[in-house]
Amino acid sequence: MDGNGRWAKSRLMPRLAGHKEGVENFKRIAEYLIELDIEVATFYAFSTENWKRPQDEVENIMSLLVEYLEKWLAQNNEKNMRFRFIGDRRAFSPRIQALMDEVEKKSSHFRNQLNLALNYGSRDELARAFRLLAEEGKKDITPEDISSHLYTVGQPDVDLIIRTGGEIRLSNFLLYQSAYAEFYFSDKLWPDFSSEDLDDAIAYFNHRERRFGGVIERKP
Ligand code: IPE
Ligand code: MG
Repeated sequence: MDGNGRWAKSRLMPRLAGHKEGVENFKRIAEYLIELDIEVATFYAFSTENWKRPQDEVENIMSLLVEYLEKWLAQNNEKNMRFRFIGDRRAFSPRIQALMDEVEKKSSHFRNQLNLALNYGSRDELARAFRLLAEEGKKDITPEDISSHLYTVGQPDVDLIIRTGGEIRLSNFLLYQSAYAEFYFSDKLWPDFSSEDLDDAIAYFNHRERRFGGVIERKP
């Protein structure tokens, strides 16, 4: 979800206004994902590297997170997604951690999975997986062993990665899980990325021929 800052700058507004609009768009797109009945979606909201931003911006983002989670809990959720917060949540305040636990618990019966990546980084996630495997004394480690020690345990591999904001890079996002993913890069800034844009990304995905390293036999 890249481009909140530039969205605000182009309107001569402070970066916080961009993050606020980013949250609004997250809500719109999450709702649309339920409509499309997407099984799992992951949103990269805050990376292990984002702490390097100016303190006031980090604080603003944390306030938006608290506000979002509290509102989520206060509303009557009839139709929603099953939340999982992926990343090292120990870095967050006890209040935010408690909100995360509660939202996960209260959303656990919903059908569509929504991962919110917060203080997430793939390298961090992989190092954690290897630490856990070492602690278990695991030998002859298989790719499945690694998968089952990632934050995304139990979820399918990534099919499609969408990055907004014009950059063509992964920025430490789901590196292991996206080994066979298709990639879609959009120049739209995240607050402007609409459900029609998501339709375009899915249409692109549906036209990809996925071979997973094999060949597809064609009748002559
Ligand atoms: C993404 O938007 C939001 C977060 C990483 C929290 P940016 O804040 O990176 O927006 P730009 O790249 O400055 O436009
Ligand atoms: Mg950015």
